[in-house]
Amino acid sequence: MPTQPCRVLTGDRPTGALHLGHYFGSLQNRVRLQAEGAELFIVVPDYQVLTDRDVAEHLAERVEDLVLDYLAVGIDAAKAVIFTHSAVPALNQLLLPFLSLVSVAELHRNPTVKDEIAHSRQAAVSGLMLTYPVHQAADILFCKAGLVPVGQDQLPHLEAARTIARRFNSRYAPGGSPVFPEPEALLSAMPLLLGTDGGKMSKSRGNAIALGASEDETARLLKGAKTDAERRIAFDPVSRPEVSSLLQLAALCQGRDPHTVAAEIGDAGASRLKAVVTEAVNEYLRPIRKRRADLATDRAHLRAVLARGNARANEIADATLAQVKTAMGMRY
Ligand code: TRP
Repeated sequence: MPTQPCRVLTGDRPTGALHLGHYFGSLQNRVRLQAEGAELFIVVPDYQVLTDRDVAEHLAERVEDLVLDYLAVGIDAAKAVIFTHSAVPALNQLLLPFLSLVSVAELHRNPTVKDEIAHSRQAAVSGLMLTYPVHQAADILFCKAGLVPVGQDQLPHLEAARTIARRFNSRYAPGGSPVFPEPEALLSAMPLLLGTDGGKMSKSRGNAIALGASEDETARLLKGAKTDAERRIAFDPVSRPEVSSLLQLAALCQGRDPHTVAAEIGDAGASRLKAVVTEAVNEYLRPIRKRRADLATDRAHLRAVLARGNARANEIADATLAQVKTAMGMRY
């Protein structure tokens, strides 16, 4: 029987509002794991914002808004440790020994980093872009998280964290008890939700429905969603990805099967589909949005939640760094 509750760590860059893709892809999992007794850690990786841009804009506001979204969806602030990179020096210091455990060739091979470099708005690739998966390994390993709920695109980073844990243990604790456990990824069972333009749902592409969007805004976005010319609505993710993603969204909100939702709409076409989805989303999000609006009036509370999370993260990071230094022989 494990004596310690399972530690779960995940995080979201403070680059914009959280949306339905985050909700059904990860936030819902976090709330469930917390309800089941897991110790939940959420990093707001403020340094990671600087991977593909020169300046992280509106940081303070965006960080507070993330905390707001977390609390609105039901993450228990009294139990969760919500913290920012920049407030936890010992976590950042783990980056140095960790960098010594990976080769430059490995850094260049990371497929997610390659993709981000291809889409970057910067002319040159910064050192932070190339090394941020190692920083992310520090996010995960400083608290010795066992489980990391992430999307598919984060799997290479999880693999990097596992490799770093393994190499650290075998280099600095050979034969002894390992300093770092190897974290496991937890992928959501949910199939990918597309953005309203049929592409990947993304904060920066204007194709996502934010959790905090108004009902009218939600209706407007869904009205403009890409569909296809076929009148009969059917769930067929391979040949009709846009229509199927909308059906999936309605089904998730209503706790139903997307085939059933499709059958009910039948020959009524895309406009009926959009009306059904709008209704389902607005209804589902109503209590979350209500809670969000209430919480938004007390910014001091959001900052206090973060301050408490930062203090706890520092305690844990200090202890882990001390252990790392001891293992490395840095005892002076
Ligand atoms: N890279 C993640 C993203 O872009 C955010 C993140 C930073 C993260 N550190 C993490 C996710 C640690 C999981 C674990 O969304």
